[in-house]
Amino acid sequence: MAAELTISCIKADVGGFVGHSAIHPALKDEAGRQLEIARRRGMVIDFHVTACGDDLGLLMTHRLGIDNHEVHRLAWDVFDICTRVAKELKLYGAGQDLLKDAFSGNVRGMGPGIAEMTIVERPSEPIIVFFADKTSAGAWNLPLFRMFADPFNTAGLVISPAMHDGFRFRVLDVRKGTTITLSTPEEMYDLLVFIGAPGRYVVESVTAKSTGAIGAVSSTQRLALIAGRYVGKDDPVCIVRAQGEFPAVGEVLEPFTMPHIVEGWMRGSHYGPLMPCRVGDAHPGRFDGPPRVIALGFQIAEGQLIGPRDMFDDPSFDEARHLCNVIADHLRRHGPFEPHRLPMEEMEYTTLPEVMKKLADRWQPVNGHAVSGEVVETLPASVAS
Ligand code: F6R
Ligand code: MG
Ligand code: MG
Repeated sequence: MAAELTISCIKADVGGFVGHSAIHPALKDEAGRQLEIARRRGMVIDFHVTACGDDLGLLMTHRLGIDNHEVHRLAWDVFDICTRVAKELKLYGAGQDLLKDAFSGNVRGMGPGIAEMTIVERPSEPIIVFFADKTSAGAWNLPLFRMFADPFNTAGLVISPAMHDGFRFRVLDVRKGTTITLSTPEEMYDLLVFIGAPGRYVVESVTAKSTGAIGAVSSTQRLALIAGRYVGKDDPVCIVRAQGEFPAVGEVLEPFTMPHIVEGWMRGSHYGPLMPCRVGDAHPGRFDGPPRVIALGFQIAEGQLIGPRDMFDDPSFDEARHLCNVIADHLRRHGPFEPHRLPMEEMEYTTLPEVMKKLADRWQPVNGHAVSGEVVETLPASVAS
């Protein structure tokens, strides 16, 4: 039996340069130095350090399996050391995503975003790793649906015998902490009931029905739910395997030609289009956005990450980028009005309730009806409870 390989993608915002727009090269350099030490020790087979906006991304391959204590400790230590560098340079929000004081066995629930999969490496193993900034876990719902379940996006669902059976989607209810697995194409409508609400239901992974092999995994951590307050957006990552029983590389990238609207952008409080861009352009500037996504392509060879190829560094995504700017112009003209600003129930996880609280006592009863001054009363019962 072939050796199993684990691909771990762990990211965190440990300091922005300038503001929340990008990261300082010193952080990437430090992360690379630390991971090189781990590689020489034989703990990881290979690694790649990248950045999307103010998030530092660590991609690692190893034989230790998912949720491995040593690998998670390594990532935590790298972020911790990079935080020290960020503090020296007084970078913005140094250590922002490290929500706990000390590592306790697993980085899940501690702030960093994690996407990990264990695979048996195929004779040729193309993967695409997506990193987004200024948006939330759930931003991958629509593109993952398109890649693995929409025949108008993925010709292979119709044409290729290897894909014709369809896929299984595992969906997490981020509020209840429960999961459901739904099978496409037959349960496609059921799947859409949930994943069409990406603030609550997040596609966690996708597996091929023909082989049972994992095809995609995404980070599902919602920072606000971990911290219990607004601490910046989740800025999720996603690993997708391509070709064979999975969508072709071009089918994996195709969903991003339609810049879908995601939550995030300025102060994590606005809807905006997700702009696919090359790594060098992943520094959201306009109104701290619009939200960005980068795609790094690798061929894996005995665990070595051959690459990356910067997949959105391609003129065929120019129209999507242009459309993003047009949509951004239009949405921005709404200023503080919905639907540019998130609806009230989503604003619960921003800094707005603090402002509302100050005004709570100023609300007066109308026609003798008692009106509570509690901010939470302005939210739907399902949210307030
Ligand atoms: C959104 C984001 C930025 C900040 C904004 C205010 O995810 O990171 O839009 O929310 O720049 O930042 P603070 O509150 O740190 O001054
Ligand atoms: Mg930041
Ligand atoms: Mg960020």
